[in-house]
Amino acid sequence: MKELTFATTVKSYAFDELPETYRQLVEKAKAMTRNSYSPYSGFRVGAALLLDNGEILGGTNQENAAYPSGLCAERTAMFYANANYPDVPVRALAVACYTNGHFTDEPGSPCGSCRQSLLETEHRFGKDIPVILYGEKHTIVFESVRSTLPYCFVNDSLQG
Ligand code: THU
Repeated sequence: MKELTFATTVKSYAFDELPETYRQLVEKAKAMTRNSYSPYSGFRVGAALLLDNGEILGGTNQENAAYPSGLCAERTAMFYANANYPDVPVRALAVACYTNGHFTDEPGSPCGSCRQSLLETEHRFGKDIPVILYGEKHTIVFESVRSTLPYCFVNDSLQG
């Protein structure tokens, strides 16, 4: 038996320390929270994607009376990008969460299903997608989706 260790390093920034592009993306994610459809949880999530062509796209969580039929903001944004810009790589993703009248102090982090969906796009284009998670106290940056999912499952894993 041997033990394997999977380590992840993230960067924690004060908002003002973020690179300009990341700040812009966070502002878009924050603005998107206003479009969230979240009557059941009251938890408004906004996501913003920067495409390789410079365009910025947004997404929000979309809830449903049949709870599991809803979708997170990250996947809404990513599926929209993949549906409308199938050949354009995604350069970065930002997420912001708003509840009880304010943005969350701690960053909201994508759920497991979102990480897996985001990974597909990252892997498909072979370009790291930094994941920028905004919180009022600090903003956490993962350098890639892969780094949020140790020992992940991708298309190569299907080869046996
Ligand atoms: N949610 C997201 O949109 N993204 C996340 O990363 C975590 C959770 C949504 C799902 C649901 O509408 C609400 O937040 C509460 O879980």
